[in-house]
Amino acid sequence: MTHTVSIRNDGAIRFMTLNRPDKLNAMNTALVDELSAQLVEADRDPGVAVMVISGAGRAFCAGADLSGHGDTPPASRDIAASVNHAIAFYKLLVSLDTPMVAAVHGYALGGGCNLAIACDMVIAADNAIFGYPEVKLGMAAAGVAPPLVHQIGRKAAFELLVLCENIGAEQAKAFGMINRIVAADDVLNQATEVARQLAAFNHDALWQTKQIIRRSADLSVTSALDLGRDVALAAQMYK
Ligand code: COA
Repeated sequence: MTHTVSIRNDGAIRFMTLNRPDKLNAMNTALVDELSAQLVEADRDPGVAVMVISGAGRAFCAGADLSGHGDTPPASRDIAASVNHAIAFYKLLVSLDTPMVAAVHGYALGGGCNLAIACDMVIAADNAIFGYPEVKLGMAAAGVAPPLVHQIGRKAAFELLVLCENIGAEQAKAFGMINRIVAADDVLNQATEVARQLAAFNHDALWQTKQIIRRSADLSVTSALDLGRDVALAAQMYK
């Protein structure tokens, strides 16, 4: 069986590489399902401290697989199934406790851009191109807009989602979508180095801190402090 995601372990680091290079790692149902299963499995595995997500070939991910978008309009039940499938995947991405590092080179478009920015740290190649073509293609940016607004705010999100102009790594960094820009041939090494730094820390402290960061973004600061207290007290109780 051909895998749409290839998996490799290096100590406590789990590498997941999108593996449809001929299609610029476009997300078809098989890839989304396989990646989802791998993310859930890694998130539950106490031996995995950090995940590194990358793409095989010349791109990170060209977004939703458009090959089924022909001249015949899909039936409404097919649309509902595919919308629900995408939303479930995007919810999964923002619910994981294991820190994730993205190594992005080439295109990261639509859902591929969403996958990148869902990672806790994004190391981008100087040739990386980010963008959201959905509206240009006549689709509402339904699944990608909410995480982007949470990440970079309304003004920048509107510009990206509605102007539909791709941006390079420098602009993505200015928008707060990525952390670092490195040479294209070094992007996986640099992401691995970051992952090694994280994996060297106490894993529980790492996961708990990610959980607090992730959930704080949706809370008032006082509620987030209550959450921080609860996580710290729970950590003490299980020592
Ligand atoms: N869905 C399905 N196949 C895709 C794809 C996608 N989103 N993106 C790229 N591919 C396929 C191409 O069809 C082509 O396959 P083929 O060789 O069998 O014809 C292969 O990947 C390489 O793409 P190609 O267009 O030849 O590369 P390029 O460098 O000239 O252009 C892009 C790259 C990303 C600009 C272009 O492929 C593109 O616009 N893709 C669609 C992006 C998109 O709109 N994504 C949806 C977001 S909602």
